[in-house]
Amino acid sequence: LKVMISGAPASGKGTQCELIVQKFGLVHISTGDLLRAEVSSGTEIGMKAKEFMNSGSLVPDEIVIAMVAGRLSREDAKKHGWLLDGFPRTFAQAQSLDKLDVKPDIFLLLDVPDEILIERCVGRRLDPVTGKIYHIKSYPPESDEVKARLIIRPDDTEEKVKARLKIYKQKSEAIISAYSDVMIKIDANKPREMVFEETKTLLSQIN
Ligand code: AP5
Ligand code: ZN
Repeated sequence: LKVMISGAPASGKGTQCELIVQKFGLVHISTGDLLRAEVSSGTEIGMKAKEFMNSGSLVPDEIVIAMVAGRLSREDAKKHGWLLDGFPRTFAQAQSLDKLDVKPDIFLLLDVPDEILIERCVGRRLDPVTGKIYHIKSYPPESDEVKARLIIRPDDTEEKVKARLKIYKQKSEAIISAYSDVMIKIDANKPREMVFEETKTLLSQIN
């Protein structure tokens, strides 16, 4: 199974991916997560990417493309299938996949109204130990121990979310039309489990 998941900042891509991985065992390839890991390890890629990410702009194509190509070529992705989250995000990125003959079985587009996205981002918290995604109001952590270690993403201020959303709107049309033959739009302005019910049904229909 080869799945792409797309949608605006905080539309719930990472949250759905957690649930999809649990159920379908796909290899989750999130360019945001991979880049954040590079930044926190202080690698060369991380040092190049940091300023772009912290300001809410896109990291240059060549960096992200090389990272994803490397990840897709690994045995686990070939064996278990993959779930690509946050890539491709530009036309050049989509073209790079074409060149590698990489095509998804399905392209899930999470649809959430703009006014909901800011609140989702500003309240988001991450568990640096498990990588789990929480929300201070709608999805708080189970224990005080987890609560005490939660972190806030540097690009989750209202101002930076607006900048990210603007870029998403500029770039997403070209991506959506590139994958229109396998694209399914999902109403993601519903509780996470309800969104997952729909996602699960769609993915179960693919062999
Ligand atoms: P990335 O990490 O991909 O950020 P993003 O696309 O802005 O998406 P988010 O991770 O913010 O949101 P999400 O849709 O995963 O939502 P989540 O499930 O966490 O990229 C970050 C940066 O890296 C980019 O800005 C760029 O600099 C760089 N980058 C990454 N990919 C790149 C690429 N291809 N090219 C160039 N640069 C790239 O949920 C959000 C919140 O909402 C959480 O609190 C969650 O609990 C809550 N929530 C989730 N679902 C629901 C629901 N159904 N109901 C209520 N609340 C919900
Ligand atoms: Zn995410």
